Amino acid sequence: MCDAMTLRPVAFCVALLAAPAVLASQAQGHFPPDSLINVKVIPKNTPVMQVIGMMRNFTGALGVRCPFCHVGQEGQPLASFDFAKDEKRTKLTARQMMRMVEEVNHRLDTLPEHEKMASHVEVTCATCHRGVNRPMPLEQLIQETATTAGVDSASRAYRALRERYYGRAAYDFGEPTLDVAAFRLGRAGKFVEAFAILKLNEDQFPTSSNLATFRGNINVMKGDTAAAVAAFREAVRRDSTNGEAQGRLRQLTRP
Ligand code: HEC
Ligand code: HEC
Repeated sequence: MCDAMTLRPVAFCVALLAAPAVLASQAQGHFPPDSLINVKVIPKNTPVMQVIGMMRNFTGALGVRCPFCHVGQEGQPLASFDFAKDEKRTKLTARQMMRMVEEVNHRLDTLPEHEKMASHVEVTCATCHRGVNRPMPLEQLIQETATTAGVDSASRAYRALRERYYGRAAYDFGEPTLDVAAFRLGRAGKFVEAFAILKLNEDQFPTSSNLATFRGNINVMKGDTAAAVAAFREAVRRDSTNGEAQGRLRQLTRP
């Protein structure tokens, strides 16, 4: 840090080097702290209790606890935490996210007839995070896990997430999620994985016509016409109004 400031007096560098130790000792000892030390987005004169409230919102929105972003031991008193320290990547990311949310809400203020609306919807961390720290859509999570760690891991991950989050906004456990994951695996030429993920979905939605249509389409990608025809027939059997499956059948069985 001081190398880059060769024109500055040595004393200044010494002061900078000493600063983190001073910050640390100020942050420790009691909670809540008397004042804010190292805030870059939150205005410095914000009441500490208001900041703590904001922090509790972060933990709820991301489904984490204070040590996810701050230096301190889970289970230890908050007085032993060093909240001012910028050591964790997640804290630095969170600061960028705070700036992003500010920008988004400023943009929302410019919507046409914004002033006339009786109520406004503000974007918060929870809008995207919905109780998880990395808000990846479930179809992407399953597709990536199947690709990098194998389809058994992906199936286990799906079941564990369903166990933990079903009924919450975190992940969409509706039928299309695994259909889409399977379709993307098929598009990447990973047919074994694609059919295994479809099977996992079929265990939950055994009468879905839509799912059979996906099986047909993945078989088309694979070049297995007989299996595709069987799947589209099954789709029509499950729902005689399934126009996509009917259309595919006509194409595939044209003499
Ligand atoms: C998702 C990350 C994240 C979580 C979780 C989080 N914080 Fe923070 N916290 C931050 C960020 C980022 C800042 C700095 C904000 C700024 O620069 O304006 C901050 C600042 C603070 C500060 C002010 C520190 C100072 O410089 O004076 C306190 C106190 C604090 N957090 C307490 C907590 C507590 C208590 C919890 C748990 C209830 C918590 N935080 C959870 C990201 C987080
Ligand atoms: C517009 C949607 C959106 C909003 C709003 C949002 N985030 Fe995020 N956040 C994301 C996405 C997407 C990622 C994942 C980026 C990646 O890993 O590729 C992420 C990642 C993070 C991470 C890193 C998590 C990890 O495990 O690596 C933190 C910390 C975080 N956000 C904090 C916040 C906080 C705090 C707020 C509110 C001030 C917030 N985010 C608001 C979309 C959002």
